Amino acid sequence: MKKIAVLTSGGDAPGMNAAIRAVVRTGIGLGAQVYGVRQGYQGLIEDLIQPMGARDVGGIIQVGGTVLGSARSKDFMTPEGREKAKAHLEGHGIEGLVVIGGNGSQTGAKALDDLGFPVVGIASTIDNDLAGSEITIGVDTALNIALEAIDRLKVTASSHHRAFLVEVMGRDCGYLALMAGIAGGAEAVVIPEVETKPETLVEILSEAWARGKSNGLIVVAEGASDDCNSLYTYLKSRSEEVGYDIRMTILGHVQRGGVPTAFDRLLATRLASEAARQIVSGNHGVLVGWNKSKATCTPYEEVVGVHKPLDMRLFEMADILAQ
Ligand code: F6P
Repeated sequence: MKKIAVLTSGGDAPGMNAAIRAVVRTGIGLGAQVYGVRQGYQGLIEDLIQPMGARDVGGIIQVGGTVLGSARSKDFMTPEGREKAKAHLEGHGIEGLVVIGGNGSQTGAKALDDLGFPVVGIASTIDNDLAGSEITIGVDTALNIALEAIDRLKVTASSHHRAFLVEVMGRDCGYLALMAGIAGGAEAVVIPEVETKPETLVEILSEAWARGKSNGLIVVAEGASDDCNSLYTYLKSRSEEVGYDIRMTILGHVQRGGVPTAFDRLLATRLASEAARQIVSGNHGVLVGWNKSKATCTPYEEVVGVHKPLDMRLFEMADILAQ
């Protein structure tokens, strides 16, 4: 292919810029002209498509977010929207598209590929919920941000003999919460994949209090069936049994806006280089992900709509280590 385009879609993830840079420079290195699409799929519909040169992606590898911008486009979810997007790409003579994004973005990518416009995806979401990639771009940075916050909260918690509920992102997936809980030394982790009764948290905290622990930490995934607010209210209502004074912190989008770690920059660069190679050579309908220490291609049929299970041995491990 002589002309390819790249876009970022869905929630931004630290490392997306490193991926854009690698697609642009690898594409150029392979002799292709590379176009950047602004505002994700919405930019395809509004024809926000411009050529990009190697210099346009200078100085961005260390910057969080995405210089191309991102969006969650409702228009692209309609068949008319996708036809319009395809027509605009073809109008520029573009033959293939690279989509950097998570679950929803790769669902859109498959739909465009099914329509006859070649697409290659790059696994990028802080949620780490995408089948076809053991780890996705942005997870490591988001996890480190969550962990830094948790470490700080534990310091103040210890000073006051308090217990903190800390909510982390992850949509319907408990990966970030589980990893933050293990690395942060949590008393308990509440995730969508496991039912945790609020009464159990009372027991866990009161036992930690009785054992003389100076602080308590419960990491709650945003997708858990009992959310952080309701758990906070419940634990407060049973504060005499709990022992600790309870506080709550919701980390929210802070986790998405960080400077990408070395791991995320390298992961993004390696996945994106591979994706550019695949699309330029004419391969499409695949997600480029990271598996067994290599960039791999997985057909969209094995990615889109496929549930990526959480390793429940890690949940059991977190439980044992909390003693
Ligand atoms: O998918 C990434 C993510 O940050 C989720 O963890 C979170 O649920 C969601 O996006 C938030 O979306 P928005 O940025 O649109 O509020």
